[in-house]
Amino acid sequence: MWLLSVLFFLVFGLADAWSQENSSDLMERGQYIFSLAGGCACHSPPKGTPYAGGREFPIPMGKVYSTNLTADKETGLGGWSEKQIHDAMVRGIRPNGESLIPAMPYEAYSGMAEEDLKALVAYLRTLKPVRKENLWPPAHVRFFRPLVTPIWLKLFGRFYDPPARAPGSGIERGRYLVEYVSLCGDCHTPKNFLGVAQRSLYLAGAKKGPLGAEVANITPDKETGIGEWSRNDIAELLLTGTKPDLDNVQGLMAEVIEGGYKNMKREDALAIADYVKSVRPIKNKIK
Ligand code: HEC
Repeated sequence: MWLLSVLFFLVFGLADAWSQENSSDLMERGQYIFSLAGGCACHSPPKGTPYAGGREFPIPMGKVYSTNLTADKETGLGGWSEKQIHDAMVRGIRPNGESLIPAMPYEAYSGMAEEDLKALVAYLRTLKPVRKENLWPPAHVRFFRPLVTPIWLKLFGRFYDPPARAPGSGIERGRYLVEYVSLCGDCHTPKNFLGVAQRSLYLAGAKKGPLGAEVANITPDKETGIGEWSRNDIAELLLTGTKPDLDNVQGLMAEVIEGGYKNMKREDALAIADYVKSVRPIKNKIK
């Protein structure tokens, strides 16, 4: 009998320890992806509670507010299942079936590796609950959203088939992070009056970025972009916010760095830098 109990203890004890280790491993990976994603900084108002939403973003037909991502059951994601968070993040579908306005970059996130997305969703569920009601967009936006968004997505939406695992290193990893996780293009590639990203100006900066302010041209163009920057200069900016001329970067860039980029591994910052240096130089003067 005692032998049986010992066996029982060993098998279940070990399985339990294994699954706990596995879930803390998952959280750690999720937290890292969260950092690579700039700490979802758009959901943190500059002086408000982190991740509790409420920040205003202009869109072609008015404005929208970012939402509460914390685990609060009533006002945040606390009551959502993993599948519901997943669907909002990569398909733009809310639990009630409505489409989110693509100001939330779910199209780009749809290319995030399944493994990374799973870890990120698991991590999001651990954000300390903060009770804060979401602000709803103006009535006309609420009225048009369910009508216009599906048509917009049919015409302009770009969704991707995600790989199971992310590329581990090199320029392929840099491209993966830029395109699907850190979303440099979400701010650095300009959008037209319909809110459609202009791929012909990929990473070439915008006179009016997500908050209506200027966003730098980060293509390797020597005059109007960052052609003179070394890969270390770019990595340094991502990790510390300091430019080669020792000036500090401002605005949303400072927020995504403070919110998360600063915690990325140097090798990931360098992979991003190598990819950014490899894109087509585009002459586009912003300032
Ligand atoms: C949430 C919006 C946002 C995201 C995401 C973002 N940036 Fe920026 N970035 C900006 C803004 C705004 C500026 C201009 C800041 C300023 O004027 O000080 C900027 C400035 C920069 C600069 C400085 C350029 C110069 O000439 O001074 C570099 C380099 C840069 N970003 C690279 C990146 C890279 C690489 C990524 C992705 C890993 C990225 N950014 C993601 C908004 C963003």
